[in-house]
Amino acid sequence: MTREDLKAAAISILDRAYCPYSHFPVGAALECADGTVFTGCNVENAAYPAGICAERNAISHAVAEGRTDFCRIVIAGRGEDFCVPCGMCRQVMREFAPDLEIICLNGAGEERAFTLPELLPCSFGPESL
Ligand code: THU
Repeated sequence: MTREDLKAAAISILDRAYCPYSHFPVGAALECADGTVFTGCNVENAAYPAGICAERNAISHAVAEGRTDFCRIVIAGRGEDFCVPCGMCRQVMREFAPDLEIICLNGAGEERAFTLPELLPCSFGPESL
């Protein structure tokens, strides 16, 4: 899948976000080594901590399908700022893909790209145990 196609996938799932509390929709499109893509959106809950972010939703979807060979993720938001992943999502990405490329979009569709080590330096992972 091209970078533009992956961005379009993340943007298109924004409409599925269930975010009646924050009104902050997020969409994620996660690409595996062979080009397979898993998407996710944030799903909130009246009991606030039970909500899940778009990125972890996409990762859980992929793991449930037997895939952990992630190479790229696009995270789309509708705000002015680039939609960067929260700390918990960074740690979950780290479990499977310590060198993941993370492409963050703002509401205008502009992008800023990071590597996971840039966003989560000196990280703790499976080999740390
Ligand atoms: N959110 C995500 O889905 N991903 C992020 O990386 C940042 C935050 C969601 C969680 C919550 O539903 C809403 O955005 C506001 O925090």
